[in-house]
Amino acid sequence: MATKTIKDIDAKGKRVLVRVDFNVPLTDGVITDDSRIVAVLPTLKHLLEQGGRVILMSHLGRPKGERKPEFSLAPVAEALSDKLGQPVAFAGDCIGEEAESAAESLQDGEILLLENVRYYNEETKNDPEFAKKLASLGEVFVNDAFGTAHRAHASTEGVTKFLSPCVCGFVIEKELTFLGEKTSNPERPFVVILGGAKVSDKITVIDALLEKADKILIGGAMAYTFSLAQGEKIGDSLSEPDKVVTAQAALDKAAAKGVEFLLPIDHFVCNSLDFGAGTLGETKVIEGDIDDGWIGVDIGPKTIELYKNAVREAKTVLWNGPMGIFEIKDSSVGTFAVAEAVAEGEALSIIGGGDSVKAIKKSGYSDKVDFMSTGGGASLEFLEGKALPGVVALDQA
Ligand code: 3PG
Repeated sequence: MATKTIKDIDAKGKRVLVRVDFNVPLTDGVITDDSRIVAVLPTLKHLLEQGGRVILMSHLGRPKGERKPEFSLAPVAEALSDKLGQPVAFAGDCIGEEAESAAESLQDGEILLLENVRYYNEETKNDPEFAKKLASLGEVFVNDAFGTAHRAHASTEGVTKFLSPCVCGFVIEKELTFLGEKTSNPERPFVVILGGAKVSDKITVIDALLEKADKILIGGAMAYTFSLAQGEKIGDSLSEPDKVVTAQAALDKAAAKGVEFLLPIDHFVCNSLDFGAGTLGETKVIEGDIDDGWIGVDIGPKTIELYKNAVREAKTVLWNGPMGIFEIKDSSVGTFAVAEAVAEGEALSIIGGGDSVKAIKKSGYSDKVDFMSTGGGASLEFLEGKALPGVVALDQA
């Protein structure tokens, strides 16, 4: 079954209620990363060119039912207007008279953004009455908020009970293709690179990918929990001793399935670290056990070569999670080397969202990858094989 898309509907003259994920980072009212706005432009242009009357709803941050001005979507309306090259009307509320009259007065090819749906607690509670009020603004529903598709909220799931048809936009369509199809029936070898701080954050992803991957490469602090499972010393490196059994189970499953499971063979370590100041104390590269007083903060040069070779031989690469503390220059080498290898390689390259997207952008290689997910938690849940409520609720072909 495939989720129906905006190509399956005729938007002309219709009020199209579109759930987008405009949960963008803002500093003093300035958008510092507009990827989520840029990503949804093809969907919006398609609907507007068809003569749809587009009504956008989104959340921003977690205002928890309070009308806090720092969570207003007003700056996003301006940014979107610049990118679309046409006015974007803004309603100071997402339900009620102001929203209703703004939606009613839209003409064909015009667009409106509603204020933050999370100014109401009913949104996250998936309250049916609230969902009905939101739905009453449109005639057709489009969900293109992949980043929020793992939430069964009023604007993602609740509204589908009151509108028909309910279809997805191009953002969700693409996410389902790359994070779903292309990793479920991958061109092989399929190499997965997983990093980040905690085994507990990624273990269900690891478990799901052990069913599909040919090789899994581990980096970041979570590698140290695997090192503990193998009886190695990790000094003062970050780890989760209570997850050693879980890590061992993943290693056993990999062995049973014939999946090559690579752990770092050398480490870039320091004897102190100040994350706030972005500084490391004394540093060195070591192989094998890490002595007490030393902290692993990146993969070492031999591991970089090993991982680069694995990427070079791959036909499909999925990367999620940094290899070290990439926010600090000296410990960013491994992450950026992996970014370069993934981007420059021949394989289909899929970046699974969150910090790895930040890293690939910072590395300057983002134009060279085949796909970067717009999701954080949603990407992980999807890769874990969980059904996403915001997608499941849409019409299936
Ligand atoms: C995200 O940024 O991951 C999404 O917009 C979801 O936000 P949430 O975790 O606050 O629901």
